[in-house]
Amino acid sequence: MKKIVVTGGLGFIGSNLIELLLKKNYRVLNIDKITYSSNFYNTLEFLKSPNYKFIKCDLNNKSKLNEAIFKYKPICIFNLAAETHVDRSIEGPESFIKSNILGVFNLLEIFRKYSKKNKKTRLIHISTDEVYGDILKGRSHEGFPYRPSSPYAASKASSDHLVSSYVRTYKIPAIVTNCSNNYGPKQHPEKLIPKLIYNILNNKSLPIYGNGKNSREWIYVVDHCEALLKVFQKGKIGEFYNIGSNKNLDNLEICESLIKIAKEKIKIGKNVKIKFVKDRPGHDVRYALDSKKILVKLGWKTKVNFIKGLEKTFLWYLRNDRYYKSISKTDIVKRIGKI
Ligand SMILES: NC(=O)c1ccc[n+]([C@@H]2O[C@H](COP(=O)([O-])OP(=O)(O)OC[C@H]3O[C@@H](n4cnc5c(N)ncnc54)[C@H](O)[C@@H]3O)[C@@H](O)[C@H]2O)c1
Repeated sequence: MKKIVVTGGLGFIGSNLIELLLKKNYRVLNIDKITYSSNFYNTLEFLKSPNYKFIKCDLNNKSKLNEAIFKYKPICIFNLAAETHVDRSIEGPESFIKSNILGVFNLLEIFRKYSKKNKKTRLIHISTDEVYGDILKGRSHEGFPYRPSSPYAASKASSDHLVSSYVRTYKIPAIVTNCSNNYGPKQHPEKLIPKLIYNILNNKSLPIYGNGKNSREWIYVVDHCEALLKVFQKGKIGEFYNIGSNKNLDNLEICESLIKIAKEKIKIGKNVKIKFVKDRPGHDVRYALDSKKILVKLGWKTKVNFIKGLEKTFLWYLRNDRYYKSISKTDIVKRIGKI
């Protein structure tokens, strides 16, 4: 049975990825620091699987991370561990620099030694479309320059550059993926969709930044995880792969779609109304990826249509009310990063 390390596996995408890997009969070691955005609720389904293990470890803990990787001997490391909320990076960028840049540097140093002794191994570094900055027209392909706008995006951009420099200089077997906005079960409600669902379920107004016209490309989390597996199985060392759905929607459209879905499933309260709030500083207007490369070269494409995915997502949060209870209320409702 092949062994895989997932870092950041207590978070949103990492826990969905572990679920997929276990279904595909891989053994998985989850390495996570346990920050505010990790949640043991996310791993309940597979907690007792004999093929799943968890170690609490910060990417910056050199000796513990080194020992974990050398002892487990993974055929692949998916690196998803990161600080991920743009508003938090505006409020206080330091943890982003520590985890997303220094943490990745540390992982790379360990992987450099590990991959020399384990030639068939791979490192898949998971990044974001935010590194390209505002794409007002058209779609950004893998050759586009990096122009990150927020400290979060800049920290991810730095880590992508580090990974690619290690491929070139030390010949490590690594690949970088840049994905668009994910949605689905198990996402921290500081992020748009689970926050709107929380407010709908709790009869609260629906806060929308600025004029609501900021456009993002939305992908269902399982589609992203399947793309990551494909990149591990067929991806070429040293390459970057964009992963997107080609489906852009602005925040207002997301909000309206969610209200419509909610009205079909439950009786919603009278306070559930859109409320425009002060915009995020430096808020990018639009991200949009050109994902032809992964489609053509690796034969991956999305399976989940947006409205169906949103419906599934709404129902998951509706049926898992204990999920919201497991998270600090302040982390859900407090607005941060306004400067
Ligand atoms: N959510 C999206 O829409 C999206 C889109 C594209 C790319 N990404 C990238 O995917 C990855 C996962 O994102 P997510 O939305 O699941 O994030 P998340 O915030 O839900 O989870 C991140 C996890 O990483 C862990 N972590 C943070 N710092 C760590 C450290 N120093 N050492 C070990 N663990 C640490 C946290 O405890 C948490 O469990 C990130 O790298 C993010 O940049 C996310």
